[in-house]
Amino acid sequence: MTIPNHIAIIMDGNGRWAKERRMPRYYGHQEGVKSLKRIVKCCGDIGIKVLTVYAFSTENWKRPVREVKSLMQLMEQTFSDDLDELIANGVRIKILGDVTSVSPRQQRICQTAEERTRHNDRLFLNVAFNYGGRMEIVHAARALASAVRQGQFTVDEITEDVFAQYLFTKGFADPDLIIRTGGELRASNFLLWQGAYAEWYFTDTLWPDFDIEEFEKAIASFRQRERRYGSIKDK
Ligand code: IPE
Ligand code: IPE
Ligand code: MG
Repeated sequence: MTIPNHIAIIMDGNGRWAKERRMPRYYGHQEGVKSLKRIVKCCGDIGIKVLTVYAFSTENWKRPVREVKSLMQLMEQTFSDDLDELIANGVRIKILGDVTSVSPRQQRICQTAEERTRHNDRLFLNVAFNYGGRMEIVHAARALASAVRQGQFTVDEITEDVFAQYLFTKGFADPDLIIRTGGELRASNFLLWQGAYAEWYFTDTLWPDFDIEEFEKAIASFRQRERRYGSIKDK
């Protein structure tokens, strides 16, 4: 089996990583960004075409205001300061999520990141930001319902392929491998539709400690899997 075309990552464990060092949680998030940059570079080098990362969930608003603020600031900083480097590395950015409910300034930053990287095609980096799998499905259902009302489709014409065109990931193949760091064994509302047949890889390693060696271990594990999609091996 070849390397996965599309890898998705739930980058979890920043807070615990900081706590272990008696540091504030935002320090863990800062180190998490460094980890992300390392993995982005590696994906380009080894020929992964699509990387989707979970940066902020629709549920993460429940965190203390202070932490939410520091996460938003970090997002702004990363998309501004590191944009030239990402462009130089051939990265094309797409934001997955509801950007209409973040501040106008952040919306602008997201838009600029997408626009300035739009000619790149070495690595597609999808950043799930204010993203929730259920919210995404409801969003798609509403858009489809309105398309039906306008006469663009009949109800019977709604297929899985048509539905997928209304998700934030429109145009991207489903993830082959989903990695979750930080030891939790759950999806936490990530890629509920797209992950239907993804292979999962869980590690206790906290996200700031997740290095190239760990990443290669996850890919090696994926390469040993037999993907049957409900069928059987010998027909
Ligand atoms: C993941 O790390 C980053 C975000 C959710 C934004 P956490 O902040 O969830 O870290 P832990 O799980 O508390 O250690
Ligand atoms: C998932 O991690 C969200 C991101 C990594 C952005 P959480 O830390 O929010 O998930 P739970 O609360 O452990 O399920
Ligand atoms: Mg967490």
